[in-house]
Amino acid sequence: MEKLRLSKEDIKKELKGIKNTEALSRFSRKYLGKKGILKKFLRSIKDLPQEKRAKTGREVNELKYFLEKQIELRKKKIENVNINTSNKEKIDITVPGKKIKVGHLHPLTQIKRQIEGIFTTMGFSVVEGLEIETEWYNFDAVNMPKDHPSRDMQDTFWLKRKKKEGEKFLMRTQTTAVQVRYMEKNTPPFRIIVPGKVYRYEATDASHEVHFHQCEGLLVDREVSIANLKAVLEMFLERFFGKGLEFRWRPSYFPYVEPGLEIDIRCSLCKGKGCSACGGTGWVEVLGAGMIHPSVFRAAGYVSNEWKGFAFGVGIERLAMIRYRIGDIRLFYSGDLRFLDQF
Ligand code: DAH
Repeated sequence: MEKLRLSKEDIKKELKGIKNTEALSRFSRKYLGKKGILKKFLRSIKDLPQEKRAKTGREVNELKYFLEKQIELRKKKIENVNINTSNKEKIDITVPGKKIKVGHLHPLTQIKRQIEGIFTTMGFSVVEGLEIETEWYNFDAVNMPKDHPSRDMQDTFWLKRKKKEGEKFLMRTQTTAVQVRYMEKNTPPFRIIVPGKVYRYEATDASHEVHFHQCEGLLVDREVSIANLKAVLEMFLERFFGKGLEFRWRPSYFPYVEPGLEIDIRCSLCKGKGCSACGGTGWVEVLGAGMIHPSVFRAAGYVSNEWKGFAFGVGIERLAMIRYRIGDIRLFYSGDLRFLDQF
C-alpha cells in the first residue's frame, strides 16, 4: 500500500511533465495497459493475506479511477494548448487591429450644405434647377441676347439636339438660368437659393475648370433695396467665414442686374501678395450680385414696377478654396484620397 500511495503523488508529477498526446498514451499504457502497473497490482492481490485483499482491491480500483480522471484532464489541457499554439489558427491578441476606413462627404458637398444651412435660417428655400437648359433661359431671358458681348465671357457647351422649334440646348453656364424658370411658376414674395453645377467650355488652370458649382440667390418682394442685398450677403459671409474677414464691394456689370456689384475676398493663400490662385491680384472674386433688371421681370411675365428684388451668384469652389486655402480648383475633381481625406 505504501507503494500505491507513493505512486499517486508520482503520477501527478509525472503527468505534469507530459506535453503531447503521444507521451500521454504512453503514460496511459504504462499504468492502465494490459501489462501495466495496475494490472500487476491486481494480480498480486491474490498473494496477500485474506483480510487485506478486499481493502487493497478497493484501493487499486480507486487508483484506476484516479488515473483515468487525471489522464482525461491532462488530455484536455494538451488539446487546449494545441488550439492556441497551432500554426494554422494562431490568435495573437497583441496584433494591432485593422483600421476600418469610414467615408465622408466631399468637401464641396460639405460647403454646399453649410451655405444652404445659413440661407435657410434667413428664410430662403433651396430649389433645384436643370443642368441641360435652353438658350432662352440661360441667356436671352436674363437679358443676354445673341449679339450681346457678355455671352463671350461664358463659352458654352452646345448640345447637338435642338428643340422642335429649333431652339438650342446647352449645358447651363450659370445657375442664373433658374431665375426666370422659377419666376414663371411662382408668385412673389419669395426667397430662394439654387445650388448646382455649371459648365464652361474653356481651358482649365488653377482657378478655372470646365465644370464647377454655383449657388444662385433670388429674393423678390414689393419693397426691396440694395441695403437688403448688402445686409443679407454680409451676414452670409460673416456666418460662413467668421468675423474679421477682409472683403470689398466693387461695382460691376451683369446684364440681369442694375446696379451690379461684386464681392472680392482677400486671397487666403498669399494673404494679398498675389499668387496663382488669385491670378496675382491678391483678391478672389467670389460673388456677383445686384438689383434684378426690369427686363428679367418682363421675361418672366411680371408686370413691370410691381416687384423688386435682388439676385446673387456665389462660386462654391471659390468659397471652399478660400476657407481651406486650396491653391488649385482641379484638386476637387482629382479623386485623390490624399487630398480628400483632409476634410
Ligand atoms: N451668373 C454670374 C456668373 O456666372 C454670377 C451672378 C452675378 C449671378 C450677378 C447673379 C448676379 O444672380 O446678380 O458669374
